[in-house]
Amino acid sequence: MSVSSCICYRTDFASLKAIADASGGGLQELHAATGCGSRCGLCIPYIRAMLLTGLVELPPMLPNDFKKLGIRCSTLERLVTQLESRGEPVTHDAEAAARLTDSPNLQLDQSAQKA
Ligand code: FES
Repeated sequence: MSVSSCICYRTDFASLKAIADASGGGLQELHAATGCGSRCGLCIPYIRAMLLTGLVELPPMLPNDFKKLGIRCSTLERLVTQLESRGEPVTHDAEAAARLTDSPNLQLDQSAQKA
């Protein structure tokens, strides 16, 4: 299982990356062009991770995974807190997330963090 799109706007990350690559823009430009991230907002940290890593398919990640990449994810943090307070299980692919966030070979685009 991977995360590869803004579900609310039915826009895959490959399309968003193509727009970002062509325009040199970041999250704000992608939002303006497609609307992505402006509904539930859960895709925002993934879009930031996509801009940062260049990967268009990302493992399901939790807030701590995003923090390792220097990415804020307040909407996701609130969702996880709500689910945990209700006793609902919050699962993700920890191994895949660690491969991404802990990879010494990952060439991060630091300018993406400013988007
Ligand atoms: S998944 Fe992108 S705004 Fe909801």
